[in-house]
Amino acid sequence: MSQSRVPRPLFCGNWKLWGSLSESVALAKGVRDATAGVTAVDVAVGPGFVALAAVAEKLQSSALGVAAQDGYWEVKGAFTGEVAMAQIADAGARYVIIGHSERRQFFAETDASVARKAKAALGVHLTPIICIGETLSERDAGQALARVSSQLDGAMRELSDAELVRVVIAYEPVWAIGTGRNATPEQAQEVHAAIRAQLSRRLQGKAQEIRILYGGSVKPDNVASLMGQKDIDGALVGGASLTVESFAKLVKEGTSACIRS
Ligand code: PGA
Repeated sequence: MSQSRVPRPLFCGNWKLWGSLSESVALAKGVRDATAGVTAVDVAVGPGFVALAAVAEKLQSSALGVAAQDGYWEVKGAFTGEVAMAQIADAGARYVIIGHSERRQFFAETDASVARKAKAALGVHLTPIICIGETLSERDAGQALARVSSQLDGAMRELSDAELVRVVIAYEPVWAIGTGRNATPEQAQEVHAAIRAQLSRRLQGKAQEIRILYGGSVKPDNVASLMGQKDIDGALVGGASLTVESFAKLVKEGTSACIRS
């Protein structure tokens, strides 16, 4: 049998703006059943807010986790349209995706708001999945590592060391999201290693326990090569998480690759 890998890998679906209530529950059930035998990694699905509680209820007694796609730092009050981290936890989610590039690009998310959201999520025992990543022009200008480093710095700023060890980081190069153009495993590993080194400067050896996911056009046929890299601890998956068949295949391929490496 395999030894378990540290940190324990995580494959998280991000359904973005997809699905009716019944479609969401059906997809979650399908993923639950198709991944029931997978025990060496954590798996989660990321429905929209309207389906969050129903999906979580359906998955209650299974190992499949639920991730919200955003959340707000205030606990309650006059913040029309926002959803508090405590409400997300109450709905049954375990994770919350924060600072996704689509939120940064279309909804004015900043490093400062990401930091506040991460802190609030940890305060109610949610695991924040903090997304960072450079644009194509930043990569072309040779600024990928600097950009990612400053986003990570911004996101960590409000967190104590004890809080920081509980986060998940997702490196998602903006140019690879939904484009079919993924980073090569070597390109991804270079950035993941830099993220790990930056975390180590704050946390020393504890940085090895933090999961650093890769995201951006991860598919069943490229996940194994990504997971073969030392500092890639799982994936945040958009398009390929929208059918049971592709997400279950991706999780299984990714898990086998972790066991081999
Ligand atoms: P993609 O999306 O897998 O469709 O590229 C990933 C993400 O945005 O999290």
